[in-house]
Amino acid sequence: MRMVDVIQSKKDGQVLTREEIRFFVQGVVTGSVPDYQAAALLMAICFQGMNQTETLDLTMAMVDSGDSTDLSAIPGVKVDKHSTGGVGDKTTLILAPLVAACGVPVAKISGKGLGHTGGTIDKLESIPGFSTDLSMEAFIACVNKVGLAIAGQTGHLVPADKKLYALRDVTATIGNVSLIASSIMSKKLASGADAVVLDVKMGSGAFMHTRQEAELLARAMVDIGNGAGRKTIAVLTDMDQPLGLAVGNALEVREAIEVLHGRGPDDVRELCLVLGSIMLELAGKGGPAQCREMVETALCEGMALQKFRDMVKAQGGNPEVADHPDLLPTAKIKEPCCAGSSGIIQRIVSDQLGMASMALGAGRRTKEEGIDPAAGIVLLKKTGDAVWAGEPVAILHTDDRRKLSEAVTLLDEAIFIGTAACDPVPLILEIVR
Ligand code: URA
Repeated sequence: MRMVDVIQSKKDGQVLTREEIRFFVQGVVTGSVPDYQAAALLMAICFQGMNQTETLDLTMAMVDSGDSTDLSAIPGVKVDKHSTGGVGDKTTLILAPLVAACGVPVAKISGKGLGHTGGTIDKLESIPGFSTDLSMEAFIACVNKVGLAIAGQTGHLVPADKKLYALRDVTATIGNVSLIASSIMSKKLASGADAVVLDVKMGSGAFMHTRQEAELLARAMVDIGNGAGRKTIAVLTDMDQPLGLAVGNALEVREAIEVLHGRGPDDVRELCLVLGSIMLELAGKGGPAQCREMVETALCEGMALQKFRDMVKAQGGNPEVADHPDLLPTAKIKEPCCAGSSGIIQRIVSDQLGMASMALGAGRRTKEEGIDPAAGIVLLKKTGDAVWAGEPVAILHTDDRRKLSEAVTLLDEAIFIGTAACDPVPLILEIVR
């Protein structure tokens, strides 16, 4: 087989065979397919698309390019959750203990944040002593003992995605549904869960800016999951403004703890209840109404909070943070950012707000950069709220005064104030089964 013929075939709009797709993926990993040919095929895929079978074949070839996590030593149905990336999305910190408190084991492998979206690992590592660097044996032992564990990626999971993602990033080939879906789902399938819930974000802070694009991505990922024999459900959610009020690592942990105490923002709480009840459904715990009741009880009666304490303790952190969030890192400077005019907040552009938070030190521009766990933004207002000129709309948290001016400029550009009344946008847009 010659790579040039595979490229020609896709360029002409042909359907690629499983063998051609495997030849490409294996060649990318071993280096026998050079970057220029891989990039040419990626571009042809962007123009011609891939059908459902090709997308599944691409995903499985990527899974087989490296190791897969074996979770068979953990009894029960393991359900994973993935969010396609959002600003202020701290749901995993609440969902994992919530679902574990209902008797479903959670073995979660998460990533560090890059760019304007935060990573669960960075958030958890802001808890004093908390370690996400677990060996596979320690990870499995922790799930079996406590009911849950959240660890950073180890081993050699989906090396094909690392290479292909890096190439896509520099060849303007990120934005294709089949490429995004296979990239995300190959990592989910290799992580070993039996079933997956996907939170597909739509809006200014998400990969998918329109409802139609988000639906296509959700459908493609659900088809891959089900095609690979893992029950998969996707929930389309709004990311036209950040989730909750806090953006930034320790600030988001604080907000998650609030929700676990039965307080906190309604949108964060509702999303966790929706995703959590679907996770229970997938684990065979009952129908939608029964599962919803189980997660509500676990949250209201403090079982989820207790699981959070257990997880923090088991992973080396100080469980007292659950009751004394002041033990979390706190920024020296807390600077209010005020509205320039009176009116109603029309929009909060999430990715812009994420960039403002990154400018304060909460995120990294390159993989190598360090982060400030205490830095970030706490919104005081959300879309639809009325503000007066000069009234604070957000508090900026940082240790470095020099970072404020860039962050204030970005924040000013993120928050649009107008005079029109603003209808609330529903958070949950659709469930794709
Ligand atoms: N996240 C991924 O892991 N891959 C993509 O292609 C896009 C988002």
